[in-house]
Amino acid sequence: LPALARGLSTSAFPSKLAFAFDIDGVLKQGKYVLPQAKRVMQLLTGRDGRLPEPVPFLLMTNGGGVPDAQRRALLSRDLGIELGENQLVQSHTPFQAAMREYIDKPVLVIGGDGDAARKVAESYGLKKAVIPQDIIHWNRSIWDRYHFTDEDEKVVRHDIDFNFTPIHAIFVLHDSNDWGRDLTIVNELMQSRGGMLGTVREDRTVQKPGGEVPLFFSNPDLEWASDYPVVRLGMGAFSLSIASVYKAATGLDLPFTQIGKPHHLTYEFADSMLTRHTKQLRGVDQDLNVYMIGDNPMSDIWGANMYGWNSILLRTGVYAGGEPAHAPTFIADDVELAVEWAIKREL
Ligand code: G3P
Ligand code: MG
Repeated sequence: LPALARGLSTSAFPSKLAFAFDIDGVLKQGKYVLPQAKRVMQLLTGRDGRLPEPVPFLLMTNGGGVPDAQRRALLSRDLGIELGENQLVQSHTPFQAAMREYIDKPVLVIGGDGDAARKVAESYGLKKAVIPQDIIHWNRSIWDRYHFTDEDEKVVRHDIDFNFTPIHAIFVLHDSNDWGRDLTIVNELMQSRGGMLGTVREDRTVQKPGGEVPLFFSNPDLEWASDYPVVRLGMGAFSLSIASVYKAATGLDLPFTQIGKPHHLTYEFADSMLTRHTKQLRGVDQDLNVYMIGDNPMSDIWGANMYGWNSILLRTGVYAGGEPAHAPTFIADDVELAVEWAIKREL
């Protein structure tokens, strides 16, 4: 690449080129940051001087569980750059609009350890975010296998009496750290009378349109790649578990809203964020030719293809070779080779 880019004038560089990077299996493997990722960030931000100008990019993950600003700070430290406000889409970031309807209403939020989900919800303005431990604290019998801890005691809220207060919506923001507890609570609420805990609607086998508690899932990944030798179960496995228990109990399909890659809403949200970032970077509105670089054919590649972006599938994550379920524009061994291929292709 140095030879390719050296001496290139800004006018000769493909100014519409932009990137969307998946995180797990592309930039990181579990807690490990890939060295190729750090070099790519130095290249695209212009810090290593090998390109005539910075190239717009953002990170787009089905992960989450911490407020966006906090995750940007953590990723900036990992990657050795400064991510701006328009350079990260987490699984739940597009939920901000849907959450505006529930600012002052009790809403159950699930995902991560302790009160992580409440912190995410409050970063989006929710004032009455409820976590599963609040409900256990209200009535231990709801899932008597759960051992309420001193840590739980430190984070629960005591200002909501669930004997008289319904739950108005459920947002699953990140991986549950207790599937039995959370699957039980979600299934009870989805079969309840208007979101009142401790109740069941008059006929469990009948679903009145609009009568259910609105349920939102932020990440459909059945599997994902961490630093473990084989793929791990993701939030999609959790939502499948909830849906199969609900079906067994009621004979009905679970009603819910799903976002996250490969869904259109997440790509549309990322596209508008990337446009805002490019305007901040260059001061002009610009059509972009985006390359999505990911490791999961069922999320990154499928979603990019449906949205009309270029897609590059890597061998550093979920994809383990063979014919991928969704055909990418290109397959590369790692993120650095992928970026170099895209730049050469656009020159
Ligand atoms: O929990 C995160 C996992 O589902 C996938 O994350 O960054 O590969 O979209 P990512
Ligand atoms: Mg990934």
